[in-house]
Amino acid sequence: MPESDFMSSSTPPVIGFICGSLREGSINKRLEKALVKRFKRAGAKTTSINLAAYDLPLYHGDLDMPAGVKKLVRKIKSCDGVVVVSPEYNGGLPPVLKNAIDWTSTTGKAHFETPYWGIASCTPGPMSGIMCMRQVNYILMRLGAHVSPIQVGVGKAQVAFDSQGELIAEPSATLAESLIKDMLAQI
Ligand SMILES: Cc1cc2nc3c(=O)[nH]c(=O)nc-3n(C[C@H](O)[C@H](O)[C@H](O)COP(=O)(O)O)c2cc1C
Repeated sequence: MPESDFMSSSTPPVIGFICGSLREGSINKRLEKALVKRFKRAGAKTTSINLAAYDLPLYHGDLDMPAGVKKLVRKIKSCDGVVVVSPEYNGGLPPVLKNAIDWTSTTGKAHFETPYWGIASCTPGPMSGIMCMRQVNYILMRLGAHVSPIQVGVGKAQVAFDSQGELIAEPSATLAESLIKDMLAQI
């Protein structure tokens, strides 16, 4: 839906957020909250897709599919857009995120193909999770997802947010606005 159509429509788009860190005090959860504020200001509804709330044991092929997988698939499908906000682990994506992607991929690809996807990452160091974001982008596209070309990398997390939790570091804040504009224009 073009941005102007959604702005004049009575139902705002729903943006889901999947965080690749389950940790209390996570800097990626901090980034998720900052993006949520910006999406809300732009007129979207947001919902957290908390991977800890789904029954998702470590995947292997002998396991019966746990109920959490279909529940997670339904939740993703209910969103117009989904933003993955993830830490980088050893140059890649964290197992909790890959496990959720792998489990849900065993049900098919529709939940990857339907929403429009965004990717963001926050790191304590200056590199801003670019290797993780590249891998998440590759995996999502391999599963048929339409992924925004604008990725919100945030380095030096300690100085990237103000006391209100707003993302203030540049170029990250500008990238966040560009991602939001692109996502709301595409859905
Ligand atoms: C197993 C492990 C591997 C990590 N590898 C990287 C890495 O490759 N690049 C990076 O920038 N930070 C790396 N870190 C540091 C994380 O960016 C840092 O712990 C960050 O706070 C994790 O995100 P969170 O606060 O959202 O949980 C790693 C941390 C862990 C625990």
